[in-house]
Amino acid sequence: MKRSQNNFILWSMVLMVCLLFIQCQNKEMSGMKIEKKDFGKTKDGVSADLYSLTNANGMEVDITNYGGIITSIIVPDKDGNMGDVALGFDNLDDYMKKSPYFGCIVGRYGNRIAKGKFTLNGKTYTLAVNDGPNHLHGGIVGFDKVIWDAKEVRGGDYVGLKLSYLSKDGEEGYPGNLSVTVTYLLTNDNEIKIQYEATTDQPTVCNLTNHTYFNLADGGASSILDHELMIDADSITAIDETSIPTQLMPVAGTPFDFRKPKKIGLDINNDDPQIKNGQGYDHNFVLNGKSGTLRLAARAVDPSTGRVLEVLTEEPGIQLYTGNFLDGSITGKEGKVYKYRNGFCLETQHYPDSPNQPDFPSTVLNPGEKYQTTTIYKFSVEK
Ligand code: GLA
Repeated sequence: MKRSQNNFILWSMVLMVCLLFIQCQNKEMSGMKIEKKDFGKTKDGVSADLYSLTNANGMEVDITNYGGIITSIIVPDKDGNMGDVALGFDNLDDYMKKSPYFGCIVGRYGNRIAKGKFTLNGKTYTLAVNDGPNHLHGGIVGFDKVIWDAKEVRGGDYVGLKLSYLSKDGEEGYPGNLSVTVTYLLTNDNEIKIQYEATTDQPTVCNLTNHTYFNLADGGASSILDHELMIDADSITAIDETSIPTQLMPVAGTPFDFRKPKKIGLDINNDDPQIKNGQGYDHNFVLNGKSGTLRLAARAVDPSTGRVLEVLTEEPGIQLYTGNFLDGSITGKEGKVYKYRNGFCLETQHYPDSPNQPDFPSTVLNPGEKYQTTTIYKFSVEK
């Protein structure tokens, strides 16, 4: 090789190293970073990690690869004070022992499947029954209780974590090996962008969501009933006493009309049969707009801090759950006692019990198809 060629290669390499260095410096200077620390061991002795993602604005989101749980979301209020808006624990043990699905990935099927049974291509499958007579949130050991493989991801305006899990054929009664990835991106627009993907080797059903409990005022120390909420839905799936959908019900003239923002607490104790069945709000809202297109589904505001949460999704539905089963028996981060209705969830999803309800959008996933859906939780403030 000629000397001039050698020189060229050498200088190209020096240039590349310099560019790489500058890029890293820029990231560091912008404040974007990912830090990883040990988060303890599961009862089988498998290690879990906790990843802290920070964006250029100083917003921080912590995620563990146990259950893909978002353990904290630190965002500013209208005066710039940073505060945690997610309920959760500061250690793995509490998540394993007493978590009511705080912050986790829910799967293989979010929400309920009636009597834990469904029929697909003429074959009936029996699932684990873990909520009265029904199957809930993927069964006894759902995606919220397994260790995910984690890879850090970085881009020009985001930092993130790509989680992967192989749910084996027969797990919790579901057919097919389901290969799942859930990518959490924290963007410099103060968004948590969640990209769900899955493929299967046999026909199965799939409905993934995230179960973060929010409290925009103080992360769960007080009630969420004064939060103002808008949900862009003209109807809900009405439920029976075991929370299985029976029919679509228009929200007009009912406590479920959140089309214009109103306080969550305004109608929550209303003497309405649907409110009784859900023991408050625990219902799937049938979202307006086209499923498959990312659109604004819900917007929550805490007037005391000015914090705003917007939920955008490609999903056809969203479950509003108002912490009706929190009863003060759980103490979480910073000694906060999670009392009745101190948190709310907005779980984007296909409708509950879809595998048994032919009129609902299908949750069937076949070999060769790709399950792919995106949801964004975006934080901002209003004065
Ligand atoms: C979902 C369900 C609720 C409840 C919570 C977690 O929102 O619909 O009934 O299971 O999760 O407790």
